[in-house]
Amino acid sequence: MKLPFAKENLVVGVDIGSHAVKVCQLSKTDNNYSVVNLGSITLPEGAVEDGTLNEPEIVAKAISDLFTNLKIKNKRVGFSISGYSVIVKKVNLAVMDDKELENHIMAEAEQYIPFDLDDVYLDFQDLKTNTPETERTDVMLVAAKKEVVDDYLQMLEGIKLKPVIVDVDGFALENTYEYVNKKIENVALVDIGASKMNINILSNGVSVVARDIVVGSRQLTEQIQSTFDIDYEEAEAIKIGHIPADDDQKEQIGEIFTSICTQWVLEVKKAIDLYHSNHPSQPLTKLILSGGGAKVVGLIDFLTNETGLTVELFNPFASMDFNEKKIDRGYLESIGPEMAIATGIAIRPSVI
Ligand SMILES: Nc1ncnc2c1ncn2[C@@H]1O[C@H](COP(=O)(O)OP(=O)(O)OP(=O)(O)O)[C@@H](O)[C@H]1O
Ligand SMILES: [Mg+2]
Repeated sequence: MKLPFAKENLVVGVDIGSHAVKVCQLSKTDNNYSVVNLGSITLPEGAVEDGTLNEPEIVAKAISDLFTNLKIKNKRVGFSISGYSVIVKKVNLAVMDDKELENHIMAEAEQYIPFDLDDVYLDFQDLKTNTPETERTDVMLVAAKKEVVDDYLQMLEGIKLKPVIVDVDGFALENTYEYVNKKIENVALVDIGASKMNINILSNGVSVVARDIVVGSRQLTEQIQSTFDIDYEEAEAIKIGHIPADDDQKEQIGEIFTSICTQWVLEVKKAIDLYHSNHPSQPLTKLILSGGGAKVVGLIDFLTNETGLTVELFNPFASMDFNEKKIDRGYLESIGPEMAIATGIAIRPSVI
């Protein structure tokens, strides 16, 4: 039973990326959220790859340290998955009631999902796109590999956390965007992390193109590393401007950025072209960039010129309250783009 004055039971959002774990804890205030706590911790190379936990003990220790350092007491967490371990598919079906729909999906899912059904957790949502004329509706199906999800659950339970929500990166991103922007628009959400780019195009508030592409900011680090024969940490520091590049390195670094960002932009344009060819009467208005890779200097202008769209760097906390004595305003703004997915998980109301 939920009392009318009960505080909504929010979880701590934990986004386990290949470069860093980000956590975000919010609280609900009337019609808004406040930032209670947030932070991130870098993972060693290879600990998480392609959405899989290669080194669960190392990741567990990092998350446990982060919770301790941030003094987060709430054990209830949500996390999200992406990449090859999860398939999201939209199918168009005759309108059915909830029970009929569940029976239909359980009986027919094999034809939509290229995995053995015994190996996946299956979930679905009726997007209720039916009109009186069509009597058909779109249903979003999600199938997540049990093996991968169970590894995450076990890792989190091993450090005494209680995972109660499993989200999907693209959905979490959409969730944050819809909270920040109440207007229903046609937008492309693009999250560029260290190893992958997630593109989610929303048309009239519904996700119509969703894909993960294996490109990301780590490519820049690796190219800098191999070009100058330096170690990974030094290359990373040069990339993000923490160590100034030598004058004779600057030109080559510029070329690396241009060639890799060109690849990213081509992928974004491919997704946008696909969208426009399927939805010619609903042009995109905006492109919202998130993830650490979104902070590459000059990327926003490059994307603006190449796509002709308004490109914005995402700040999920723009309209949230926070305690300035506890959280530094500059830190909150600079970490905003990387926190988009953790925030999307942290605003999911949980039923447990
Ligand atoms: N100013 C910057 N310029 C370029 N890259 C940056 C900058 N700041 C952070 N990054 C990069 O962003 C990446 C981290 O972003 P993020 O936390 O979104 O990745 P992740 O979620 O761990 O990765 P993924 O989702 O791909 O598994 C790192 O590769 C980091 O070097
Ligand atoms: Mg990420």
